[in-house]
This record gives sequence, C-alpha cells and structure tokens, in this order.
Amino acid sequence: MALFDELAQVNALVVGASQGIGLGFVNQLLAQPQVTTLYATYRQPETAAALLNLAEQSDRLRLLQIDVTQENQLIAGIQQIRQQTPQLHWVINCVGILHEGDLQPEKALRQIDPEQLLRYFQVNSLPAILLAKHLMPLLQHGDRSLFAAISAKIGSIEDNRLGGWYGYRASKAALNMLMKTAAIEYSRKSPKTILTVLHPGTTDTKLSQPFQRQVPPEKLFSVERTVTQLVEVMTHLSEADSGRFFSWDGSPIPW
Ligand SMILES: NC(=O)c1ccc[n+]([C@@H]2O[C@H](COP(=O)([O-])OP(=O)(O)OC[C@H]3O[C@@H](n4cnc5c(N)ncnc54)[C@H](OP(=O)(O)O)[C@@H]3O)[C@@H](O)[C@H]2O)c1
Repeated sequence: MALFDELAQVNALVVGASQGIGLGFVNQLLAQPQVTTLYATYRQPETAAALLNLAEQSDRLRLLQIDVTQENQLIAGIQQIRQQTPQLHWVINCVGILHEGDLQPEKALRQIDPEQLLRYFQVNSLPAILLAKHLMPLLQHGDRSLFAAISAKIGSIEDNRLGGWYGYRASKAALNMLMKTAAIEYSRKSPKTILTVLHPGTTDTKLSQPFQRQVPPEKLFSVERTVTQLVEVMTHLSEADSGRFFSWDGSPIPW
C-alpha cells in the first residue's frame, strides 16, 4: 500500500511514539519501504523501552526526546529535523491523556478541578497547534503532505449524549477547533498539506485500560488493527478532505 501513490520517498514524523497507538504507527511505517526517514518523539525513556529498542535496529528511525507541551523543546526538536531534511510528508500526533496519576476523568460537576482541566488542555489540545505552527516550513513543499492529529469521537459536541468526562471531551473539542482553523490557514499558505483529526476507535492501550470492562470485545481494537485502519483512511485523503474529522472506518464525524 502506497502512503501517497505519487511519492517514491516519504519522510514521516510520529509525535508521542513511546507506546500505544504512536508506537503502532512507528512499527507500521517502518514496514513501508516508501518511508526513508522516520522521526519519532518520546517524552521519557521509562515508558519508551520498545521504541528505543527499535531505534537500535533501524537506521531509518531517528528519535527525539521532547515533552511536546513545552514549546521550546518542540522548537529545538523541529530544528534538529530541519538540519537533516528539508521536507516531511506525513506527521501524526498521537499525544494524549485521559488519566495521569491522580487525574481521572470527571463523572460529575462536583469533580471539576481547574488544575485538572488545564492539564487536559495542555496535553490534548496544545501540542497539535504548536506542531502546526512550527512544522509549516517542513510541510510546505511541492509534494503532498499530511498532518493528522489523533482526536476522539467523544470530542464531538453534536454526538455528546452521555455527558461526563468534561475535561477530556472539552480538550478534544478544542483540539478539533484548533486543527480546523489551522487547516483553513494551511489551505492558503500550504495548499498541498492535508490537516485532519481522526478517531481511532477504542483501542487496547494504557489510556483505555481502566475503562475496558464496559467495552464489548469486538469493539476493543488491538493497536495493530487501529493503526492499519487509520493508515488506510489517511492514504485515501485528498486536499478536499483537509479540515475534516474522520472515524477509523473513514466515515465523517460531526463536529
Ligand atoms: N485508546 C483509545 O481507546 C483511544 C480512543 C480515542 C482516542 N484516543 C487517542 O489516541 C491518542 C493515543 O492514545 P493511546 O491510546 O495510544 O494512549 P497511550 O498508550 O497512553 O499513549 C499516549 C501517548 O501520549 C504521550 N504523552 C502523554 N503526555 C505527554 C506529554 N506531556 N508530552 C509528550 N508525550 C506525552 C505518552 O507518552 P509517555 O509514554 O511519556 O506517557 C504516549 O506516548 C490519544 O490522543 C488519545 O486521546 C485513544
């Protein structure tokens, strides 16, 4: 399967590649001969053992240690990429949190905590727009390019029927709006870049682990299945799809 049919060589960047869906993308992109250089970011070696191991086995995989909520770290990482390559074709942001230490999704208003809300926005909403801000020179070239952020259907305002999970929902809705807005600016300044937000489906990772009991087994995807499905969707996107929100099966999700 060709990532973009017209491209013989693809440089890609996976952000948040230490584990879960991000690590799954690294595995599948490395298996594509079209991918000549694959950059992957991780925040801390403690949770990135598998990624660090992969990098020892592949010259095509180049790792950057970045906490992408910190703009100065992001700028330094992108500077390193620019010293090695003038172009990126695929960028996928997989960073996200649902729970983190004492931070747990809120079931009711009495659990709303300003610090927790800000943390959700800091990790789930900000990195994608900072990437959009700083990556434009690497995505703006004669070939097609794609910048996808992994969002969640739960961030759809129209689809919100169950309530709860205030911070996670709101931070994903904010991510969607930021990406939609950036897609409009990119369509003027870098018209061959496709910006999209994608719902991966419930996937067996650390993020979903505490909530998997409520999920029927056929609706809980392995990381490999999720990534295969998302690569399929991304491969078929065109410039006309930029600024849209898609599910793992390619169907559009209402904002
Ligand atoms: N799994 C699902 O069912 C599901 C459903 C819908 C949407 N999603 C979305 O899919 C994306 C990937 O989630 P996942 O399921 O693969 O979860 P995961 O296994 O927990 O992976 C999350 C990734 O985000 C990174 N991350 C978290 N905080 C970070 C920070 N401050 N700076 C840099 N990296 C940070 C983690 O790095 P560390 O290893 O350093 O923590 C890890 O690489 C998320 O955006 C999530 O919201 C997942």
